[in-house]
Amino acid sequence: MAASGDPGRPWQEEEEEAAAVVVVGSCMTDLVSLTSRLPKTGETIHGHKFFIGFGGKGANQCVQAARLGAKAAMVCKVGNDSFGNDYIENLKQNHISTEFTYQTRDAATGTASIIVNNEVKTLFNPAPAIADLDPQFYSLSSVFCCNESEAEILTGHAVSDPTTAGKAALLLLERGCQVVVITLGASGCVTLSQAEPVPKHIPTEAVKAVDTTGAGDSFVGALAFYLAYYPTLSLEEMLKRSNFIAAVSVQATGTQSSYPYKKDLPLALF
Ligand SMILES: Nc1ncnc2c1ncn2[C@@H]1O[C@H](COP(=O)(O)OP(=O)(O)OP(=O)(O)O)[C@@H](O)[C@H]1O
Ligand SMILES: *[C@@H]1O[C@H](CO)[C@@H](O)[C@H](O)[C@H]1NC(C)=O
Ligand SMILES: *[C@@H]1O[C@H](CO)[C@@H](O)[C@H](O)[C@H]1NC(C)=O
Repeated sequence: MAASGDPGRPWQEEEEEAAAVVVVGSCMTDLVSLTSRLPKTGETIHGHKFFIGFGGKGANQCVQAARLGAKAAMVCKVGNDSFGNDYIENLKQNHISTEFTYQTRDAATGTASIIVNNEVKTLFNPAPAIADLDPQFYSLSSVFCCNESEAEILTGHAVSDPTTAGKAALLLLERGCQVVVITLGASGCVTLSQAEPVPKHIPTEAVKAVDTTGAGDSFVGALAFYLAYYPTLSLEEMLKRSNFIAAVSVQATGTQSSYPYKKDLPLALF
């Protein structure tokens, strides 16, 4: 490991094993005010509840992978302020390496998140999606995973069910990725690969959804975990298990606060 030279970060000194899941992406602090309505321009209104949450698509995915037991590292920049300090503490509490989490005075920018297994596999999540995504993102992705609306933006074709998702996935596959996965909320996901270019629908169990915020990041984090730790599982099996974990996350409120830990999940998933 690289020497940190910072005596205030002792946790890293114990860190020796290399991370198996490395996430490049955003760390955002959510400032949530609950009010009865939105204020008009310039108006001040009373709120009845306020809380601070840890978010950002990259960090969400990293937290989910870590809670499943992945040795994970987060590559990002946070501000040099109390929110940035708190975020780094949050990553540490989730046993995520912050060796490459930097603090900067510049404004944070985050447009896309990438999950990279240190060996060869790259899982790319184009969120938020832009229509003219650099074509290299397709050819450099082992797994390209997006949701319905991102697939629509990237392909220009409406995606609303397994059939239309299958068509969009084929268009994305033709751009050079090895595997495409499109998530479909309560309908699970659709996948195809260069090896098996016929769309396959992987449905999920119906659950009573309480709060679906962050379900996509839970799914991507779980998939990164399986790619890194169970590389011999079939893709279909990895997706079934990722569906299951994301379904657990929609049954509780909040984003990271709803992500399950390995100890709370059926043993059959590991
Ligand atoms: N209502 C639900 N019931 C069961 N599983 C769900 C439900 N909603 C989402 N999931 C699971 O979460 C995965 C991702 O959901 P979705 O396609 O809505 O991602 P997303 O739009 O990126 O999520 P979000 O933007 O809300 O974080 C699905 O593939 C599925 O496995
Ligand atoms: C962060 O702020 C502290 C003081 O609050 C300062 O000592 C340090 O140099 C700053 N670091 C960066 C990267 O701006
Ligand atoms: C897909 O993810 C984007 C974030 O990139 C989000 O804004 C959008 O609401 C999601 N779409 C669906 C159908 O959930």
